This record gives sequence, structure tokens and C-alpha cells, in this order.
Amino acid sequence: MLNILLPIETPELLLRKFRPEDGEGLYAYLSDPETVRFEPYGPLTREQACAEAQARAQARCFVAVERAGVLIGHLYFAVKGDCAELGYVFSPAYQGHGYATQAARALMNAAFSAGLRRVTAECALENPRSWRLLERLGMRRVSETPHSVCFKQDASGNDLWWTRLEYEIRREV
Ligand SMILES: CC(C)(COP(=O)(O)OP(=O)(O)OC[C@H]1O[C@@H](n2cnc3c(N)ncnc32)[C@H](O)[C@@H]1OP(=O)(O)O)[C@@H](O)C(=O)NCCC(=O)NCCS
Repeated sequence: MLNILLPIETPELLLRKFRPEDGEGLYAYLSDPETVRFEPYGPLTREQACAEAQARAQARCFVAVERAGVLIGHLYFAVKGDCAELGYVFSPAYQGHGYATQAARALMNAAFSAGLRRVTAECALENPRSWRLLERLGMRRVSETPHSVCFKQDASGNDLWWTRLEYEIRREV
């Protein structure tokens, strides 16, 4: 079993486990429709965010990212064997500063040092901030499948289909 020790400190951030009292912090960004546009769920209510914080405090695959005591986003890092799947959502107030890159890089480095061999990620071509982040992390695009992912509908109720991109990075040996 891979053992990534939290917390991890970077020059500007603290990566830590979620706590049951992170509900308000999660609500601050997961209630924003634009922030969750490419996620497989809609904006969270305050009650849902509080329940989510409780659940994440027990889960191993979510990492809270804090800056100066404020929850600014989270990483999803689901480890299966020697491979992990990476995901991320950051508060719009803290995007555009390199914090997601800094956080994901620190977590991936810790995981590779602990024995992980491969990290994968999926995102939509229509979400360039996401695939630009993956490319900043040195990940390689391994597939591009048009019209293959649908989480949401438009205002008229029509399904929105996106192009699914798959990325990966392997530990250098
Ligand atoms: C995907 C997401 C995490 C990317 O966030 P981000 O802020 O663009 O990524 P970073 O924190 O790495 O910041 C990079 C940006 O900061 C800028 N930046 C400033 N200082 C920087 C630094 N020291 N290092 C790196 N980038 C820096 C970069 O130029 C880049 O901006 P640009 O894309 O306009 O050129 C964010 O858009 C998000 O949470 N979106 C909503 C949720 C979502 O869609 N998740 C993915 C679903 S698949």
C-alpha cells in the first residue's frame, strides 16, 4: 500500500487531509456553477458541502490545499496498485497563480518517491485550463476521443458532449 505522508508543505501551500469542519471552505468554491462546469456534479448547497467535508475527512483520495489558513482547492488522487488518477478543483479566486501546478507537482513527487510508477488524468478538450495544467506537470496526452463524455445539459436540456483527453506520466527509472 502506497504511503504518502500528509501534510506536505510547499513554499506557498499546505497539502493536508480534509477535516469535518471544511464544509464552509468547500462551499465557497463548489457552490460556483462555473467552477464545477466540467465536474460530473452540479453546484453544491451548503448542506451538501458540509456532508462532503465529513465524507472526505474519512476518505483517502482527497487532499485539501490550503494557503495562509484558507482552503483554496483540492486534489483528487486515487491510488490503485502502483498507479494513481489525478483530479483537481481550485477556487476561482486562487486560479491563475500556479497554485494548482505547485500542489499537484508536490503530491506527485511525494507519490513517486514513495514508489508510485504512473499517474493518469482525464479532462475535456473544452476545458483548456485543465489540460494546460496537466501539460505544465509534464504529462503526455495519450488519447483524444471526440464526442465521448457528457456530464451536463445546456439551458434547453440538450446533452453537452465533449472530447475526452487522457494523459499520463510515468516515473523516470
Ligand atoms: C483546472 C484548474 C485547477 C487550473 O487552475 P489554474 O489556476 O489555471 O492552474 P495553476 O494554478 O497551475 O495556474 C496556472 C496559471 O497561473 C499562471 N501562473 C502565475 N504564476 C505562476 C507560477 N508561478 N507557476 C505556474 N503558473 C503560474 C500561469 O500562467 C497560468 O495562467 P494561464 O493559464 O492564464 O497562462 C482550475 O481552472 C479549476 O479548478 N477549474 C475548475 C475545476 C475543473 O475544471 N477541474 C478539472 C476537471 S477535469
